[in-house]
Amino acid sequence: MTADLNEKSNGGRESSATAKSGTPSLEKPVFDPTAASAIEVDHIVKKYGDFTAVDDVSFNVKEGEIFGLLGPNGAGKSTLIRMMTTLIPITSGRARITGHDVSREPDAARRLIGVIPQALTSDLDLTVDENLNIYAKLYDVEIARGLVHHPRIFFLDEPTTGLDPVSRVAVWEMLGNIKSKRQLTILITTHYMDEADRLCDRIAIVDHGKLVALDTPMALKASVPGSNVIEAQFEKPPADWEQRLHTLDDVTSVQHEGAGMYRVLTGNGSHTTTELVEMAVQTGVAVKSLSVQNTTLDDVFVHYTGRQLRDELVKAYGFVMPQRPGLQP
Ligand SMILES: Nc1ncnc2c1ncn2[C@@H]1O[C@H](COP(=O)(O)OP(=O)(O)OP(=O)(O)O)[C@@H](O)[C@H]1O
Ligand SMILES: [Mg+2]
Repeated sequence: MTADLNEKSNGGRESSATAKSGTPSLEKPVFDPTAASAIEVDHIVKKYGDFTAVDDVSFNVKEGEIFGLLGPNGAGKSTLIRMMTTLIPITSGRARITGHDVSREPDAARRLIGVIPQALTSDLDLTVDENLNIYAKLYDVEIARGLVHHPRIFFLDEPTTGLDPVSRVAVWEMLGNIKSKRQLTILITTHYMDEADRLCDRIAIVDHGKLVALDTPMALKASVPGSNVIEAQFEKPPADWEQRLHTLDDVTSVQHEGAGMYRVLTGNGSHTTTELVEMAVQTGVAVKSLSVQNTTLDDVFVHYTGRQLRDELVKAYGFVMPQRPGLQP
């Protein structure tokens, strides 16, 4: 699996990060529940006037863990990151970075963290150190020396949004590299489920400011009723087709995706497929295409939020200069 990922990710060429380090390192890290906590978020709340952007969220990120934060637009991911990285005040609850309360000891917390903006990670001609040095130039240099020399925990807010697929894979490869070299903890937000599935040890799904699910990708997929997904497209299906698909054996959910395409979750892919084809033949509805897959993180996301992440995005993100860590609003 690792070899396969490297092969795909290199796309026939080595990225600089890999080439300069000599060893491609995309091994999926092992989540160690007994490891010390790098980030502790405890009943954290962020209110903007009457609006609650983050609503009583708690989680711990272990040292050395790659932790994914997933959620639709406006879910509160960036707000969470801004609170954890001392950039905005916390309304209530608290966040700690290796034991340092970000509200009470912001400087101590800042010395341990790095925030890599999208535009920097996407520059694949730079090595990890070069990226960090540029980051140092962007930020206040004093603080930056601390960030550059001893960053322990990295926060990345959608580092791959807007990148082409090859660059995206290379960014994740670089993250794997950073992690294996420096024993860092990484908290990342992304809209790409496949990336999150491959690299993250654990994933938290946030929706409307609340934490709705948190577990390893495998456990999250296992938590969704149904083990297979049938994607089928039909020629002019009748209006009640969604309901009729629901009546098939072992079906746990049906989603109409438009243009005659349906996504059917089932506990028994082969049996439901047979029934589905039989029903289509009997009803005189032509099947244009059909595929059966294992449950993906997309299905997990739909299950917990009622929406599809890929439909929520993808708007263009301009590069926004991060706030200087010294400037606490
Ligand atoms: N300074 C602010 N004042 C008022 N509301 C805000 C402010 N910053 C964010 N919000 C609101 O808080 C909610 C969460 O925003 P946030 O940027 O954290 O979402 P997100 O999950 O990062 O979304 P995206 O995927 O689009 O980046 C949104 O409804 C947003 O409009
Ligand atoms: Mg955001």
